[in-house]
Amino acid sequence: EEHGGHLPTDLKGLDEALCGGIPFGVLTELVGPAGIGKTQFCMKLSLLASLPAVYGGLNGHVIYIDVESKFSSRRMIEIGVKSFPDLFKMTGVIQEMAGRILVLRPTSLSKFTESLQQIKESLLQRQVKLLVIDSMAAIISRGYGHGASRQHLLGWHISFIKSLAEISRIPIVVTNQVRSQTHEEGCQYSFQVQRTEDPAGYDSHLVAALGINWAHAVTIRLVLEAKSGQRFIKLAKSPMSPPLAFPFNITSAGISL
Ligand code: GTP
Repeated sequence: EEHGGHLPTDLKGLDEALCGGIPFGVLTELVGPAGIGKTQFCMKLSLLASLPAVYGGLNGHVIYIDVESKFSSRRMIEIGVKSFPDLFKMTGVIQEMAGRILVLRPTSLSKFTESLQQIKESLLQRQVKLLVIDSMAAIISRGYGHGASRQHLLGWHISFIKSLAEISRIPIVVTNQVRSQTHEEGCQYSFQVQRTEDPAGYDSHLVAALGINWAHAVTIRLVLEAKSGQRFIKLAKSPMSPPLAFPFNITSAGISL
């Protein structure tokens, strides 16, 4: 599924494993427990997508679907100022970068569906270089009934989002929260029972929320986790790389190795 082009993450080992970064034209999922850094990662990617090419960016606009009001413009600017001080010193850069990121906060599933249809129009204008959905399970949980109609509607959303990536050939990054760490720590007798049908990094709660088709729609899955006080980002699903893990930190400059 090579559509040409990547959004570099600025995490060197990860970019190498991904042959350049987050690929265009497909879905990339970030999975991990609350507070591990999924939103921080998405804000860094948004910054990188909006930066001029000489700074390693895509010089584009970003649409950020912020379901749980986690996106912070102030934090985003801090990451920019700390990561690219020379650029952000220049007059008007903060306003320019802030103006390139459109944050949408759909309050219901039907508002989300409407947003997706409007997004399709914007994407065709070719200015948008990244779409973030933070988080998919959170917005899905705000709608749908049960049973067959649920599966049907969920299927529609999954296909629609996938087709947005294919038509626009931009990276689409989607977060999802799991309830617990994949690896328990601190107790030598504790262990994690992972059901064999759960995709790597998922828990049964997430599988129940999104259905198994979601996992197949995703081309790249990055699992964020903490072990012995160190955060790791693991390439849990990738067509071109074995499951490698890279340590990372969250500093004032955002996600870094
Ligand atoms: P949920 O949204 O709760 O699912 O978690 P998440 O995975 O999106 O976590 P998020 O990206 O919000 O990361 C939270 C972590 O980022 C915190 O535990 C902090 O360690 C770190 N963090 C958040 N804001 C800042 C900041 O302004 N400065 C620094 N240095 N770290 C921050």
